[in-house]
Amino acid sequence: MADLNLMEKIVSLAKRRGFVFPGSEIYGGLSGTFDYGPMGVVLKENVERLWLAMFRDDRDDMYGVDATILMNPKVWEASGHVQTFADPLADGKMFNTMFKTSVGAGEEVSTVYMRPETAGGIFTNFKNVVDSIHPKIPFGIAQIGKAFRNEIAPRDFIFRLRELSQMEVEYFVKPSDWEQAFEEWRKLMHLFAVAVGIPQTMLHELEVSDGDRAHYSKRTIDFEFEYPFGRKELWGLAYRTDFDLSAHAKASGTELSYLDEETKEKFIPHVIEPSLGVDRTILAILTSAYREDDMGGETRTYLALAPKIAPIKAMVSPLLKNKPELVEKAREVRAELKKVHSAIAWDDNGNIGKRYRRQDEIGTSFCITIDFDTLGETPNLKDTVTLRHRDSGEQERLTISEVVSRIRSAIE
Ligand code: GAP
Repeated sequence: MADLNLMEKIVSLAKRRGFVFPGSEIYGGLSGTFDYGPMGVVLKENVERLWLAMFRDDRDDMYGVDATILMNPKVWEASGHVQTFADPLADGKMFNTMFKTSVGAGEEVSTVYMRPETAGGIFTNFKNVVDSIHPKIPFGIAQIGKAFRNEIAPRDFIFRLRELSQMEVEYFVKPSDWEQAFEEWRKLMHLFAVAVGIPQTMLHELEVSDGDRAHYSKRTIDFEFEYPFGRKELWGLAYRTDFDLSAHAKASGTELSYLDEETKEKFIPHVIEPSLGVDRTILAILTSAYREDDMGGETRTYLALAPKIAPIKAMVSPLLKNKPELVEKAREVRAELKKVHSAIAWDDNGNIGKRYRRQDEIGTSFCITIDFDTLGETPNLKDTVTLRHRDSGEQERLTISEVVSRIRSAIE
């Protein structure tokens, strides 16, 4: 059920804590654009890093490319986007949502498009990857990058943007193997959801029917998420057949087939495409993690982020900032933790309760406080600290080395 109040709270927290800001805000904004702030940029990088690990680097059959946003316009003619990448306007006329810009000057000027999907730069590099790496089929190419769509009605915060980021794989298979590959990537998408903290209960698969699929697809599953404004698409998994490679081969006059060295068979590979929007993933993560509870008689807000993707892993604090011996010891503890991970925050501002609340809203799992007992005021507590847990608010007294290993195992 739609909960627009929750949406407002998420947008407000995202701004207040430096996750996401409206684009060009001091000039009144620009519709369909949002900027990531200091916390958001790290969250985004962590999500992308995890995707790269799971979809590319942990596998032996995946390679990366980083292609340009501006491409020869013939790419988008061959792919069908010039003819079909359009949405209806209020008067029923179709409006192509690709952004146009121009390259060159004077007589040399020509119109080009900003890529509407990162996939284009993967298909156009298919032959380069085959010729340089000689991968054995099945293999795939992964890419993260910006894509642009002149959406008629951008809306719902970072859900429908005009400038977005995608994490895409084009996986090339023998035509007869497409179903098996489709199932494998489908499973991996679910594993990725779990890894970033999107619960299975909020994720639903929708088999897209014949008339609703993109022009290139013979089968598509939309992964839908229960956003505060309703159940909508999060990611897509498509069987693109040999549509793209065949179309680009024909339009460019370049052979885009694959020679199987074992069977000596030459064919145009078929393609399975898991396509994940980064921004929608971030919105799904924030929605899944948003919590309110009662703590000490007050409503507390926190983000129950998975430690692996949380922008800050732990915060270290001296109980009092005007006691040099506490500050010095706290700095030592922070230096120790920084050996485990660089994202260890320091906060000595305001009272300790306020510091905890700030970290709660950022989604930091652990706060460590150094007090006089750490320094040995109670002899048997020397070199112990308090470790405070975000979700329960509970605190325990542990040695510094215990804290180090706790944090190490939480983010592994
Ligand atoms: N290459 C396939 C492709 O681009 P798509 O379903 O049009 O397929 C893939 O887009 C994903 O990109 C979507 O599932 C969504 O996560 C993201 N996406 C698409 N349009 C978006 C927009 N306007 N704003 C934010 N994310 C978008």
